[in-house]
Formats: sequence, structure tokens, C-alpha cells
Amino acid sequence: MEKFLVSGNATISGTVTVSGAKNAALPIMAAALLASSGRVELSNVPDLNDIKTISKLMESLGATVTRGEGTATIDSTNIDEPTAPYELVKTMRASVLVLGPLLARLGEAKVSFPGGCAIGSRPVDLHLKGLEAMGAQIEIEDGYIVAKAPAGGLKGAEVHFDVVSVGATENVLMAAALARGTTVLRNSAREPEVVDLCHFLNAMGADISGIGTDTLTINGVAALTGCDYRVVADRIEAGTFLVAAAATRGSVTLLNAAPDTMAVVLHKLREAGADIRIDETTIHLDMHGKRPKAVDIHTAPHPEFPTDMQSQFLAMNSVSEGSATVVETIFENRLVAAQEMNRMGADIHLEGNRAQVRGVESLKAAPVMATDLRASASLVIAGLVAEGETLIDRIYHIDRGYEKIESKFAELGATIKRIS
Ligand code: EPZ
Repeated sequence: MEKFLVSGNATISGTVTVSGAKNAALPIMAAALLASSGRVELSNVPDLNDIKTISKLMESLGATVTRGEGTATIDSTNIDEPTAPYELVKTMRASVLVLGPLLARLGEAKVSFPGGCAIGSRPVDLHLKGLEAMGAQIEIEDGYIVAKAPAGGLKGAEVHFDVVSVGATENVLMAAALARGTTVLRNSAREPEVVDLCHFLNAMGADISGIGTDTLTINGVAALTGCDYRVVADRIEAGTFLVAAAATRGSVTLLNAAPDTMAVVLHKLREAGADIRIDETTIHLDMHGKRPKAVDIHTAPHPEFPTDMQSQFLAMNSVSEGSATVVETIFENRLVAAQEMNRMGADIHLEGNRAQVRGVESLKAAPVMATDLRASASLVIAGLVAEGETLIDRIYHIDRGYEKIESKFAELGATIKRIS
């Protein structure tokens, strides 16, 4: 199993280009299944293991997917297989995003039921309830979600999500694009990746309004066609580089970023003492050599603080001036990186979904284990600020969501070696 050896006492400084967002590219690729004619030409697609997995899944459903440098060309004209098998879904939960598109396009879908996950229980009840409201018959058989549309296809419905869910909003939205009549989704997720999916669906010929609000109105259309589309920049990758620079008292310039999707993260970094300048696609952060100040974090659905940035801020807080409280409200088990950071000398006290962090002057390298994607990123940041060389095990998590992370950090002056 591959590991990272991260050299500590680093100062992150330089310029790096942000990749396209994994969490936008995945639903957009799933939504390409809805196009019954023409090709979908995507650009700004990150080169990640999760993108390889969804490409494989799309091909197993009868689509053709051709990857180029930062591009994906998808032809879904002849899809005919409604089954997303266990072997693929077990490696990536986001595979469940093909449920809505398959049901809308083929009238049936059989998708392996996603199991638990390191960060929490992650049910899919809201996805299923939304599709049932549109007339789908859904059974759970032999570990599979087996869904059938009514004769004549799914019909428009009023759906109220009890909990704000990115995935449920996306799945039901995609199904509604081809349903008969109008669907109104209330208490929808407003994450930038959901917004990007809406724009992509409209570019394919869908009729969605209320984009960026919590009420989405979708007038179903008879068919969708291929289009050209550029995936939005990855706000979490961008945020990870910014926090790494802040934690190491450095400075960084991000190109191809989308600062308008990151308001609360930029606000928290300013509160930590960062000098930040932005224009439409560039973010420049400079700590002027200062130690960051600890900042309180409370995760919640967009536009509040994103859960996917919580553990990176935990790493920064652990070496900041002062104390702070970090509260995780989205997933029940997403503070685990704290225990690994404590092994490196951090002073983090965990109580349920709350972490009390007292900043220490410095961390010390230790062998640590990555447990999920963002926790892995936070351990890289902890390794960069620590004294000595930190060995991070199970880095396959990080390869799912960060494109060329070692070479990008190398451009910023850090040394991260991949060890087999
Ligand atoms: C998406 O996961 C992201 N994944 C996650 O990113 C991200 O952490 C999360 O949204 C929250 O922003 C992708 O986009 C591929 P949710 P998703 O449904 O859609 C509960 C990363 O590191 N819930 O918004 O699975 C759920 O348990 C990842 O890149 C239900 O109760 O998250 C959670 O408490 C990890 N029933 C809350 O909603 C449901 O049917 C939000 O989850 C669905 C969700």
C-alpha cells in the first residue's frame, strides 16, 4: 500500500492551478446518461480515481467515455443496461448518482445499495423518497435498489427534503429533468456543485429555475441532447492549498479558482490573519510570515462552512495562536483526524461532534493513518507544519479526490514523497 513521506518545517509559497471539482464532475458525468442524442464534451475534468470509477460504471451501462487531458467525451445514445453492480458502487458511493438518470432514461434502474462509510452512516432514504414521489416503485432486493418508473415515465411532483442533501437533490433533479410535468424541490442543497449540475442540465436542454436557491423548479422536457460544458473549479482543493499556506505562514496564488464559491472559507482565513486578494478566477493569500490565529468552525450546508474543509482547518488550528471550537454537524464521524494530530503533539479534546483545539507552537512528525479523503489532506497539512518527516499510511483516499497532489505541493516548495 502506498504511503506519503511529508517533509516538515515547510513554508508553502508559490503559484498553483486549481483542478475541476470532483464533486461537480461526478454528478455531471452521471447526468450525461440523460442525453439520448449528441455527445457531451466536458472540460476541466480532474484526473482522479473517482473519475475513472464513474467512467467505468458509465461504460458498463452502455455509454462510451473517452478521456483526454482534462476532458471527457461521453456518448450515452445507446445505453441499455440498468444495473450498477456492487463491485463498482462499493468502491465509490457517488455511483448511486446514476439511479435518477437511469430511471428517467430507461424506466428502470438496479443500483447496488451503498453501505456505510468511514465518515458516517450516509443513508440514501431521501434519494428514494424523492423518486417515489415521482411515481417510481422501489424495492430493496439482494442488496440492490430496484426501481421502476410508472408506465409513461416519471411524473412531476412536489418534494420537500427533510434534511439538506447534496446527493438527494442531485439524483431527484436529474430524474425530474425528463419527467412529465413540473417538479418543485424544496429545502434543496445549494452547494456550488449542485448549481454547476443545474447549469449543465440546462445546457443539455433542461428547464430548471431557482438555481442557487433552496427551491428548484424543473419543467420536464421530452429529451436532452449533448453539449459542451466546463466543470467548475474545485473549491475544496483550492481551500486545502490556502489552509496549507496559512498554517505554514506562507503565501500562495491560486489560478483557475472560483472565489465566489468559497466566501465563508475565505472569511475564516481572513479571521485567522490571512491577507487575501481575489479577482474572478485568482486567489492570492499571504500570511506575511505570521502565525495564524485559531478560528471557530461550525459546519453546515452551503452557504455555511463546508464539512469538506473542516479537518484542514482543524490542522491549522492545532498550530495557531489561541484556542477554538470546531463543531461538525453534517457527518457523525468526521473528526477522527484529531486523534492522529494528537499523536503528532496537537492538543485537541474531542467531545461528540465537537473538538476543542488549543494551538501549540509546533507538531512533531509521527506515523499516521489516513481514514478518509479530507482527513488525509489535513494530515498532509499537519505533516508540512511538523518538525521531521511524517509518514502517512493509506493515501489511496487522497488519490480519489486530489489531482497530482505531490507535484502540486512541490510547485509550492513542499517535499512529499510517494513510497510504495
Ligand atoms: C456530498 O456527499 C459530497 N460528495 C461529500 O463530499 C460532502 O461531504 C457532502 O456532500 C456534504 O457537503 C459528493 O458530492 C460526491 P449529503 P453526499 O447527502 O451527497 C444525510 C468529499 O470528501 N442524508 O449532502 O453523500 C447524510 O447522512 C465528500 O469529497 C440523509 O439523512 O452528502 C448527511 O448527514 C465526502 N439521507 C447529510 O444528509 C439521505 O438520503 C448530508 O449528506 C442523504 C443524506
